[in-house]
Amino acid sequence: MLYIGVDLGTSAVKLLLMNDQGEIQKITSREYPLSFPQPGWSEQNPYDWYEQTIDGLKELLSECDKHQVAGISFGGQMHGLVVLDAQDCVIRPAILWNDGRTIPQVDYLNETIGRTRISSYTANIAFAGFTAPKILWMRDEEPDNFARINKIMLPKDYLAYRLSGSFCTDYSDASGMLLLDVKNRCWSREMLKLCGITEEQLPKLYESYEVVGTLRPEIAEELGLSSAVKVIAGAGDNAAAAVGTGTVGDGQCNISLGTSGTIFISSERFGVDSHNALHSFAHADGKYHLMGCMLSAASCNKWWMDEILQEKDYVNAQKDITVLGDNHVYFLPYLMGERSPHNDPLARACFLGMSMDTTRADMVQAIFEGVAFAMRDSLEVAKSLGLHLERTKICGGGAKSPLWCRIMANVLDMKVDLLAVEEGPALGGAMLAAVGCGAYASVEEAAAAIVSVAKTIEPEPELVAKYEERYQVFRQIYPALKGIFPKV
Ligand code: XUL
Repeated sequence: MLYIGVDLGTSAVKLLLMNDQGEIQKITSREYPLSFPQPGWSEQNPYDWYEQTIDGLKELLSECDKHQVAGISFGGQMHGLVVLDAQDCVIRPAILWNDGRTIPQVDYLNETIGRTRISSYTANIAFAGFTAPKILWMRDEEPDNFARINKIMLPKDYLAYRLSGSFCTDYSDASGMLLLDVKNRCWSREMLKLCGITEEQLPKLYESYEVVGTLRPEIAEELGLSSAVKVIAGAGDNAAAAVGTGTVGDGQCNISLGTSGTIFISSERFGVDSHNALHSFAHADGKYHLMGCMLSAASCNKWWMDEILQEKDYVNAQKDITVLGDNHVYFLPYLMGERSPHNDPLARACFLGMSMDTTRADMVQAIFEGVAFAMRDSLEVAKSLGLHLERTKICGGGAKSPLWCRIMANVLDMKVDLLAVEEGPALGGAMLAAVGCGAYASVEEAAAAIVSVAKTIEPEPELVAKYEERYQVFRQIYPALKGIFPKV
């Protein structure tokens, strides 16, 4: 049989077709625009997601035996607020995970209601990109739109709804709404009350590998598929990527260097970081995970290459980086503010330490290193919780650079496992579809059968020591500039 994985990302949707053995048959993708209507705002049109997904699916399925397609599932950008009215029309553009407009609402939740209470309801505190503060923002700033809300959903759930008619979400993605009682895997009545919404406005909750419905007959016909094709709930993109990299069960780690940067630690047991610097979310394997999320990771390099250097050849820009560990330039990667661990939507990016002999290569290198140092900030929080992580998988666009992977291994002092096949959330989505269709008994079983490590990058003791010194400087920069950011 064949399974489709949909990775609904921030810059594009990627579609992947996989067989029972976990072999990838084909991959397609379609891009859509991202808009920043005001500084710190970030929006997308859900209709674009749907249209591009259908278009990409047609190409994906163009050469296969369509009778073999058994299921479809998703990994989706998390936290985005999608709101539909009673006619199922999208009320306003989706407010995305990296949007920073909700500072007053986050302050209300964390300061007025209080972090301890919010964390006791949800296992997390409010961050600007989370969904609940955006609902409060709509209530405060767009009361007419707020009054029209019939359904609230997350980005990938909009696709599942359009494809199957099932108003559903999964526990991993729902965890990032700040509406879920993560420990008990149910909606938090207290949070719903605080946000002025009802359970009827929220999707039904499923495990990521559960079947939520089948294709609507008219969609099945448009795609040339059977209307018996199963739609499986899917997961937030980080949980789906973790499935796709085999980061399931207990104590496994995955780093994603995509538009965002995340460090994802799987756990058999529910647990909360007492300072809530790491997110405590449900995992797509039915268990839990802790996660640190940077709002800009590989996107820092993309911004630097596309917007500033206007250089298409990313590899060429890295070729003059020959010596690691001695760069005197530092880069703070806070282009969209920062989530973990600072929770500061007003933080901004900066270069520090240039002199007349600074080269373009030093600046590119500083970006790679700055992202690695900022990831280390979250790793330090994990270490303070007693977690000893010796190795990590790595995925996302940034993982395609061997140089960046080597820098990560040395800054984090961790073994970095490169996968034989690295297709992150799209592969994870297809694996969840396979589990939902019964091809594998569990997510762990699918991961054991499908995912393998091709090569390990070992940390180099001399470089680890040099980067340790530089990290100790890096970690002083944000506190020194914190008070300046609101003024710039
Ligand atoms: C995770 C997060 C990002 C998005 C990216 O909390 O906000 O990683 O999921 O799509």
